[in-house]
Amino acid sequence: MQESGLKPILWKNRELTLLDQRVLPGTTSFLIAKTMEDCIFAIREMVVRGAPAIAITGAFGIALYLNGLSSKPTLSELKKKLGDLLESRPTAVNLRLAIEEFLSRFPETEYSSFQLEDLQRGAEKFALFMLEEDLNNNLALSKNALSLFPKNPSSLNIITHCNTGALATAGHGTALGVIRSLRDAGHSLTVYADETRPYLQGARLTAWELKEEGIPAYLITDSMAGWVMASRKIDAVVVGADRIASNGDTANKIGTYPLAIVAKHHGVPFYVAATEKSMDFRIPDGTHIPIEMRKEEEVTSFGFLKDADGKPFLSEGVIAPKGMPALNPSFDVTPASLITGIITERGIISPVTEENLKKVFGS
Ligand code: MRU
Repeated sequence: MQESGLKPILWKNRELTLLDQRVLPGTTSFLIAKTMEDCIFAIREMVVRGAPAIAITGAFGIALYLNGLSSKPTLSELKKKLGDLLESRPTAVNLRLAIEEFLSRFPETEYSSFQLEDLQRGAEKFALFMLEEDLNNNLALSKNALSLFPKNPSSLNIITHCNTGALATAGHGTALGVIRSLRDAGHSLTVYADETRPYLQGARLTAWELKEEGIPAYLITDSMAGWVMASRKIDAVVVGADRIASNGDTANKIGTYPLAIVAKHHGVPFYVAATEKSMDFRIPDGTHIPIEMRKEEEVTSFGFLKDADGKPFLSEGVIAPKGMPALNPSFDVTPASLITGIITERGIISPVTEENLKKVFGS
């Protein structure tokens, strides 16, 4: 990924170029976002996905919206637009925090004193700052993770779920960033990447990043994780997060929760790698996290996988009887009690308790 120089999110000449993750790994294609609506489309339709990348794209969406105006929006017009953006995907908290952080730079009581140009410049600066901040935070948390593993170069076997790499972030990644940094620290890694049914972020995106990086890995179906833990030495499971509640309950890609249960059963440490931007101190626990429900078609067929021309990858992609109802919650919540530690840019939080989270993040 880094070697190939492909940038999943690129801001150039006041346009946002997004690597189209819907068509990876078969096709390398880009979507040029020129308006906030383009960004909302890109987030909703999964051109870009992964909690940090969604928030960064949203921030550039704000800049595109403001750059397209010839007069300053009223505060309620601005808030309406930001509300539309927020609705694009509900589970990850990063986008909400980004919108709030942007608004905090233009306090309501002083809003009348700002010119359109101030908002435009402020939005672009904020989005660029987010890109840089996310990369730095990922590098910092990945460095912190090294303390959880042997000091001397060792053979390490790690299971991961979904895609949390350079594609899901500003670069390096969270859980996949930890894996990259372990490799860079000299460990000899074998990664077991869950395919991540139904959207297959593991098979299509994580497998692609691991191959690009030359990190030895096996792709497994999600249901194989138990067998892998029972029959091979697994040193850790490392996953990302879309929202962490005050008590440490963590929403992440569907399939994370059962993976944590299996890890507990086998005594395998289960780590969540995430930055402060995934923390939601406003909710007490995971029952308050909204879970995005996606199309049944993603479960009943592979027909949703399209090539760059919009043609299905697999023309015979239907795998269920016609009309069969399916459930498609896109995320689940792993209780804090199943999480060995949360790896953050500020250090490792373990045991995962509200007190320890607040100690580290000072909220
Ligand atoms: O539906 P997605 O692909 O946006 O879900 C992504 C995940 O669940 C990731 O694990 C999470 O956003 C963390 S990415 C650093």
